[in-house]
Amino acid sequence: MSRKFLQIIGASLLLSLSISSLYAQKKKLAQKVDSILHLMTLEEKIGQLNQYNDDQAATGPVTQDNDKIGQIKRGQVGSLLNCVGVARTRSWQKVAMQSRLKIPLLFGQDVIHGYKTTFPIPLGEASSWDLDAIESSARVAATEASASGLHWTFAPMVDIARDPRWGRVMEGAGEDPYLGSLIAAARVKGFQGNRLGDLNSMMACVKHFAAYGAAIGGRDYNSVDMSDRLLWEVYLPPFKAALDAGAVTFMNSFNDLNGVPATGNAYLQRTILKGKWGFKGFVVSDWGSIGEMINHGNVKDGYEAALSAITGGSDMDMESRNYKNSLAKLVADKKVPIALIDDAVRRILLKKFELGLFDDPFKYCNEEREKAALNNPEHTRIARSVAAKSIVLLKNENNILPLSKNTKTIAFIGPLVKALKQNKGFWDVEVPGVDSEHIVSQWQGLKNKIGATTNLLYAKGCEIEGDDKSGFGEAIAIAKQSDVVVLSIGERRDMTGEAKSRSNIGIPGVQEDLLKELLATGKPVVVLINTGRPLVFNYTADHATAILYTWWLGSEAGNAIADVLFGDVNPSAKLPMSFPVSVGQIPIYYSHFSTGRPATDDKNRIYNSSYNDLSIFPKYEFGYGKSYTSFEYSKLQLSKKKIKQTETIEVSVTIANTGKYDGDEVVQLYLRDRVGSIVRPVQELKDFKKTSLKAGESKVIQFKIDKQKLSFYNQLLNWVAEPGDFDIMIGSSSRDIRVKDSFELIN
Ligand code: NOJ
Repeated sequence: MSRKFLQIIGASLLLSLSISSLYAQKKKLAQKVDSILHLMTLEEKIGQLNQYNDDQAATGPVTQDNDKIGQIKRGQVGSLLNCVGVARTRSWQKVAMQSRLKIPLLFGQDVIHGYKTTFPIPLGEASSWDLDAIESSARVAATEASASGLHWTFAPMVDIARDPRWGRVMEGAGEDPYLGSLIAAARVKGFQGNRLGDLNSMMACVKHFAAYGAAIGGRDYNSVDMSDRLLWEVYLPPFKAALDAGAVTFMNSFNDLNGVPATGNAYLQRTILKGKWGFKGFVVSDWGSIGEMINHGNVKDGYEAALSAITGGSDMDMESRNYKNSLAKLVADKKVPIALIDDAVRRILLKKFELGLFDDPFKYCNEEREKAALNNPEHTRIARSVAAKSIVLLKNENNILPLSKNTKTIAFIGPLVKALKQNKGFWDVEVPGVDSEHIVSQWQGLKNKIGATTNLLYAKGCEIEGDDKSGFGEAIAIAKQSDVVVLSIGERRDMTGEAKSRSNIGIPGVQEDLLKELLATGKPVVVLINTGRPLVFNYTADHATAILYTWWLGSEAGNAIADVLFGDVNPSAKLPMSFPVSVGQIPIYYSHFSTGRPATDDKNRIYNSSYNDLSIFPKYEFGYGKSYTSFEYSKLQLSKKKIKQTETIEVSVTIANTGKYDGDEVVQLYLRDRVGSIVRPVQELKDFKKTSLKAGESKVIQFKIDKQKLSFYNQLLNWVAEPGDFDIMIGSSSRDIRVKDSFELIN
């Protein structure tokens, strides 16, 4: 027998042993779950499906309940949210240990963009197009939060969002299902780490299932009406990707989808998620969403709401109390078979086992570990690097940036310069015993960076909101004394987030008026825009000398901004959402369908699908973002011009850094299916590579195109690749296509 053959036999034996030991482990866990289930009364089972808010924070309308302790002691609560820190979680767990069966509580929390160390808001972080960076930020968050007693984060939010009026755009990865899917998977891996049950791992919760991002008019919690094709092609892929990456819980959503509230939606939760996709974890409702089905007018009362939710596939009731109040009666009335309750309980108990809570309910409660994790300088370093990677350079007239470290006088102006908490963005965990303003302000960041010879002047100029211009004079005076002005403006951190829909998404107050006055001094003005969403800021876009879209960057905001302003980091971020010229263009996204009368910006346009009074193009397109250096694209090569369904095309393109600075470029590959049985988008992102190039360096970047990348959902919702011609477009943004070719798919 050859050595190679023996090696193959050995490897497959090992593989089958590890598969069978995994299977044996699973079986053992299932037996353990069943052994507990058999001991449980119906009331205790329903208790596991019940999640309450602790009173440390409120992330929804709170129900007064003075008997939480009593209910936990009676085994009527399975989980708490908004309860953080080793001391607090331990004390609640002790209460749970007084219950008859001592089933441990799960502690869940919105750890959305960091825990103690805060990171850029997710949409900002998505701008990095850097999956390792994104995974590392979730890793840090999980390391800190799990050391602080938490088992479960309500993240990632993977809702595709194409309407910047919707405040929750800040929490996702933008408009594109391909980019969104990769980021969803990276975040899940980051939160869950190597293995659930490791001390630095926490359960991810993929939300909001499903299509919450398509709320009509961009109004939070509003209805969603969409075709199955759009659902499958655009809105579901990030959920599937998160599941494939191992996500163990899902949260459903407040919206109805085509008339059926997601919380009671059996098509979504039973047919797709637990059926077709084989999801074995559990689904938690959104806050109160079971009861809110009564407001939807889809059910009459709490009894019907509980019936709809449990049959629809919601396993755990967050804060509505309808499971607690109605499930027992529903079982007695034979409306809900006990098997349905058992299935939900099993799913939840299994996770408690996998986390190791039955072996040690206090496993995640260790003060020493908490202290170490919350004071880890490596976390700060990662936060600074991720933040710098998330800053998008939108404009750089006369290459004013990067600023020289020898600039004599810089006027740093604006309501966000000295702000601390504003840099945090919407979601904020108050970590007990920790200074919540553990943040490097933008002022401090610049001070840390500049040398002794640079004079840094400050004026606030104005507030974020309101019409008070009394601070303009001082701002103008220091601008006149300076060589360059840096102006930090934007939104307050509570202006974009949950329930923060806005119809006017301009830069608030008199901030753009201040810019106008500063420009009138004749000094160059670099504008930093702090926000959670794409804003409309045509005046700034057209007149500022340079613009950095900084989003809300988290703990290390100041240092990261200084790194980019002075060129220690060359910006490489690209927009994950289209930025409209006007609210009138919304929804606007790059991968729109071709119409029968294609829109143009041609002056003589008539009888076509354009606006008469507005461009059809965004101010800044998906994938857009500048660098301090320049990149040239050439030599697009395809290994074949015709492929069969089973074949692959190797694509290569040469990228050259033709500027003065080292830099990173996100090379984007778009495809267009020229003729399809369903109308196809004018272009779809199908791959990208982020690559580093030294000044003067060239690299060959390679991609592969296979059947997967050419497929779509046809009218019968089958995933097919149809023979025909495809265009391939590679470039630096969705509009800045540098090289093109085409190929044919044959049968
Ligand atoms: C409601 C939000 O929609 C959801 O995303 C969040 O996780 C819960 N509140 C809990 O805070």
